[in-house]
Parts: sequence; C-alpha cells; structure tokens
Amino acid sequence: MAIKRKTKQELERMREAGRLAAETLWRAGKMVKPGVTLIEIDQFVYDFTIKNNAVPAPLNYHGFPKSACTSVNEVVTHGIPDEYVLKEGDVVNIDITSRLKGYHGDTSRMFFAGDVSEEARDICKAARESMWEGIRAVKIGGHFGDIGNVIQDYADEAGYSVVRDYCGHGIGRGFHEDPLVLHYASNKRGAKFQEGMVFTIEPMLNEGTHKVKTLKDGWTVVTADGKLSAQEEHTMGLTETGLEIFTDHQFE
Ligand code: MF3
Ligand code: CO
Ligand code: CO
Repeated sequence: MAIKRKTKQELERMREAGRLAAETLWRAGKMVKPGVTLIEIDQFVYDFTIKNNAVPAPLNYHGFPKSACTSVNEVVTHGIPDEYVLKEGDVVNIDITSRLKGYHGDTSRMFFAGDVSEEARDICKAARESMWEGIRAVKIGGHFGDIGNVIQDYADEAGYSVVRDYCGHGIGRGFHEDPLVLHYASNKRGAKFQEGMVFTIEPMLNEGTHKVKTLKDGWTVVTADGKLSAQEEHTMGLTETGLEIFTDHQFE
C-alpha cells in the first residue's frame, strides 16, 4: 500500500497531536513511583486527554480495553493497565497515543519506580539511544531500511537483542499506516524518505532473546525468557524544514 504524504495543513495537525501526546506522557510519567497502580495512571491519561478535546486512541482499538499501554519489566509492549502496584525497582514503559482533530501523536518512554538496578537503567538508556540512532538515520535520499540497520548495529554493540515482531509505522488520520518501520537489519532497502511522510520509530530492546510471547489476555507481550525489555518511541515527519520530531518537547 502507498505511503500517504501529508499536506502542510496535515503536518500542523500532527504537530498539535504530537505535542498533546508528549505532554500527556510527561504528566503520566511524573506519577510513576512505588505504590501507584497502573490503572491510576491510565485514568489520568483518559481524563487529561478528554479535557484536551482529544481521544485516547488505544481505547477500544481492536478491542484494547484501556487508554494507554503500561509495560512493566519483562513486558515488551501492549501491557494493559490493571491493579498492579508499582514497586521499588520496576521500570515501566508508558505508551500514549492521542487523537486530536482526527490526527494521531504516538510516543512512549521508560520511567523508574524509585531506585532501579544498574542493569535496568542500562537497557532503558540503550533503548532510548537506539531510537535516537534510528532518528539520526532519517535523511532525504535515504531509505526506511536505514533505520533498522543503525538500530541493529547499536543494539549488537551494546549487547541487546532487537524485537522483530513489532515495528514502527506510518501515522496520520490512521493510528497505524504504511510503511512498516523495521527496527532490525534487513536486506530490503524499503521506501525512499520523502517530504510529507510521518511515522514512528519505537525500538524494543531485550536483555536476552529477541523472542516474545503474548499472554492469554490477547495483548500483553512479554519476553520469551522473562528477562527485561525496554522501548522508547517518537512520532516524526519530514517537513519543508527537514525532520521534525512532533513528540519531542520539554515541559520543565
Ligand atoms: N501505541 C502502540 C504503538 O506504538 C500501539 C498500541 S495498540 C493498543 O504502535 F491497542 F495496544 F493500544
Ligand atoms: Co507506535
Ligand atoms: Co505507541
């Protein structure tokens, strides 16, 4: 399927949706501490999104029951916020997707509950760094395949595996649009980067095997070996001024 290139007006919408997703993520992240439940975080995400005249895109997406994904420790992605009480040493990925005026912003990062082990901090840092390596590979003249190549190199060097079953994606009016953005090395170059393309980069790195499995709830993806996983995500677009990261904002 063809990659939908966005008009100037659509890019402005993506900018607004990205900013709201980023602010929601930042505020949700500030809630992370020992003793807080995942559903409290989810409830905040719902309320804040609605208050901002937007819709939490995960809610009812293919039957997903909550407004955000919360993935703790060995959970790779798509964790369902529940009564789980965060405990000292947990690392949690919060993934926020806001739909504002019909357009989506999608972003996630890792947060720490209290003091966490060096081992956990290291993989979180590597997930973030690998995402930035991928972002730096986006250049007019290059191809989507460049992203996975550099992320894979970074992960190999750092001693982590790259999850292959879940990918980044085009985004716009659709939560998930073409293309599929691979985070691992492939011999396919993929589509050429062109102005107007908007997509996510969201690598998941694992401590052990890259293999994952899905729990009986049909959503929660965990590492096959129970070891740690970490992920970070930004939404970005190629605009007339170059690459703009719509979900990258400082709020303090
Ligand atoms: N936000 C995820 C992504 O980055 C998708 C979550 S789908 C859901 O693509 F249904 F689990 F919310
Ligand atoms: Co995404
Ligand atoms: Co996401």
